[in-house]
Amino acid sequence: MDQLNRRTVLKAGGTLGALGAFTMAAPAGAKPLWTWSPKGSVIGTGNGADPRTVWDTEADPLVASILDRGDAPKVNALLRNWNKNGQPLPDGLPADIHDFLERHRQLPAWADTDKLEAAVQFNEKRGLYLGVLYGFVSGMMSTVIPKEALAVYYSKGGANMKRRIARTAKLGYDIGSRNAYRADGEMIVTSLKTRLAHAGVRHLLPQSPHWTGAAPEDIPISQADMMVTWHSLPTSIWRMLSSWGVKMDPVESEGYLHSWQLSAHMLGIEDQYIPSTWAEADSQAKQALDPILAPTAEGIKLADMLLDLGAGLDFTLLTRPILGALTRYMLGDNVAEWLHIPREPVWGTLLETAWRPFVAVREGLVLNVPLAPEAAWMFDEFLRQFVLLYVSELRPIKIEIPEFNNPN
Ligand code: HEM
Repeated sequence: MDQLNRRTVLKAGGTLGALGAFTMAAPAGAKPLWTWSPKGSVIGTGNGADPRTVWDTEADPLVASILDRGDAPKVNALLRNWNKNGQPLPDGLPADIHDFLERHRQLPAWADTDKLEAAVQFNEKRGLYLGVLYGFVSGMMSTVIPKEALAVYYSKGGANMKRRIARTAKLGYDIGSRNAYRADGEMIVTSLKTRLAHAGVRHLLPQSPHWTGAAPEDIPISQADMMVTWHSLPTSIWRMLSSWGVKMDPVESEGYLHSWQLSAHMLGIEDQYIPSTWAEADSQAKQALDPILAPTAEGIKLADMLLDLGAGLDFTLLTRPILGALTRYMLGDNVAEWLHIPREPVWGTLLETAWRPFVAVREGLVLNVPLAPEAAWMFDEFLRQFVLLYVSELRPIKIEIPEFNNPN
């Protein structure tokens, strides 16, 4: 498909229409209306502006100025060892960024420490699944979010899928840790640095001829785009666990949601777009996430790299065929076909027949199911290898303001 055609199709609301996978809600060329109400948000109110036309009014001009005046290397170097929520900012930061970080490191008035305690329970109980879910539900889904795939591919860190998974892992790890939002935790800093990185991307990508030639927009990472990616994380994980029949304690799952609501706020998403409950999250995702999933040439390449995540490492079960089968099982045949992931008869059948029984036994939902011990061992080992991969290979990562685009 040539550039112009691809742009036209994307502008028309996603390549899905062309593939006939879903029906589009609006006529070609028209943007479907944004109808999700701020009444369903954490603050229950807002001006309801279409989030596809809102970016980050405060961080964007600040980071643009830092990049334009040549301060980015200095700011990145100074912030490299600023990691803990309660840690004082380093000396020597330019006054504008110092002031921004001091103001935005404060949690919002709606932060609730009891809910954060409940989130800890959730993360401890479901921790073993979360590694796989962040990697192969959220991470793989990001390759079929067209605007995100393009932004990631053509930005500095683009085409390095391991790094991308590493950063999702860092976020997942930080958000899941016991002290995430306390003074000795790291989630506030991680989110704020990500907010700065995104502002950098908004300034730099429009200068990339590769990105401008391919993207259906002039500025990347709108408020709506951030919510789309947010839904690929907690909402998709909540949906997946629910679909496996995992019985989540309502207080604990609300706690997990709360930890992600706070992260959205710290990432610069306006409170009026952050859903207040899982039901609201699900309804917003139906409008913002589900209909826009589609393949792109860039996303297909990113997914291909992601399948090689375990290559060259000592993880016997994180192989391309197993990760491919996992993607198909978790995200469905449509997504697997879009990403050119072949069917894996052995692993695919094993997942289809044994995964749910395995989860049911692990969750204590049933006592006796005819599950081959080798299958149970393999799934346990697979989950364990994922957790190990994060801890050993992916965790050490410093989030920085990008200083240039992907030169390729
Ligand atoms: C950077 C997470 C939304 C595109 C980052 C980083 C994190 C992150 C942790 C920094 C890691 C690094 O330096 O590599 C998130 C989260 C999001 C979100 C939690 C929503 C809740 C988006 C969206 C887009 C996007 C919607 C695009 C449409 C990018 C790009 C980078 C980046 C291009 C810079 C990568 C680079 O070139 O180094 N994001 N992101 N992100 N994000 Fe996001």
